[in-house]
Amino acid sequence: MGYNEAFREIVLNPLRDNEAVNRKVREYLVQWQEFRSQQPVEEQKFWSFDYYIRDQILQRAQTSCTTKTLSLLYSYAYMPCHVDGNKAVIKRERDTFFEPFIYRKPTNVLIIDVGCGPMTACLALADDQQDRNADTRLNLDYVGFDIQPRMTDIALEFGRRKNQNDLFGENFRWCYPDGKNTLWIEQVRNSVKQNGTLVFYFSYFWGQEGVENDIAIWVDRVKRIALQTKAHDTFIAYLNKDMNGYNNAYVEFKQGLSVRPDTLQVITSQKCVYPYQSWSGMERWLAEGVAPASWAKDSEHLHYEILRVDWRHYENTGTDGNISV
Ligand SMILES: C[S@@+](CC[C@H](N)C(=O)[O-])C[C@H]1O[C@@H](n2cnc3c(N)ncnc32)[C@H](O)[C@@H]1O
Repeated sequence: MGYNEAFREIVLNPLRDNEAVNRKVREYLVQWQEFRSQQPVEEQKFWSFDYYIRDQILQRAQTSCTTKTLSLLYSYAYMPCHVDGNKAVIKRERDTFFEPFIYRKPTNVLIIDVGCGPMTACLALADDQQDRNADTRLNLDYVGFDIQPRMTDIALEFGRRKNQNDLFGENFRWCYPDGKNTLWIEQVRNSVKQNGTLVFYFSYFWGQEGVENDIAIWVDRVKRIALQTKAHDTFIAYLNKDMNGYNNAYVEFKQGLSVRPDTLQVITSQKCVYPYQSWSGMERWLAEGVAPASWAKDSEHLHYEILRVDWRHYENTGTDGNISV
């Protein structure tokens, strides 16, 4: 049982079966019909409900998903593309990074998934391992963090579902820090064993509107957690839709971490295009109960980097002392 089945159960079904969610989606459906009727006739055929969800409701993944309905729509419209983006990185960097530092690590790995959304990056790691037995899959401690509790509600469902061992394996431990719990960093410290790996994972996070306001906070947190953890290997994994190779918030974040020229060692920095699955047919799902179909799309442009962090450079440099969330 892989991620596709969990996706149907956790994301698709509630959009139709959960009364409150369904009511809200139907309101969006009416808004779409009005919107489409106002478009020039020759353009109306491009405005499917699926496209309207992506472009107008989710504003190309920029909308803050403050409600359960918006979080489910994000999971429907964007998570599959982002899961495939993560899987493309795993595939391309299997020998350089994922096998030696994540999959074949003799002790544990802690991934801190910043702006985790519905658990996208972790689902990609899990899906990549489906052909291995549950007991030989990744030995992973996973901390997902997202400013929107409705997003982590969905992530929690992926983590809690009855058959989660089938999806993640038997050595998977996860936690979602309460955004108001300023002690969560203390809890993180104990999660990396000797010779373990610590990864700060930023999947489609640094392109999000508003994150530029939190750069200093994340610089401080990364320094602080890396310093406290003293992991054998500490990494930053970044991926995002390619913004012409330039992402101001991410660049500034890296500058903040580079206390010396060699604090961040580039393991890989690549641009690529990758094929991805996209779901369509939300209108028929709501009206007729015909499940959306998954389509193979051509390509999406991706920029990704994996950086090794020398946390020893942060000793005696001080952090700003403010870790409140
Ligand atoms: C584009 S989504 C990416 C979600 C997921 N990582 C993925 O790859 O699909 C960006 C996520 O970052 C979260 N976010 C935005 N600002 C944040 C912040 N300051 N701290 C934590 N999460 C934040 C949003 O709620 C959203 O879930």
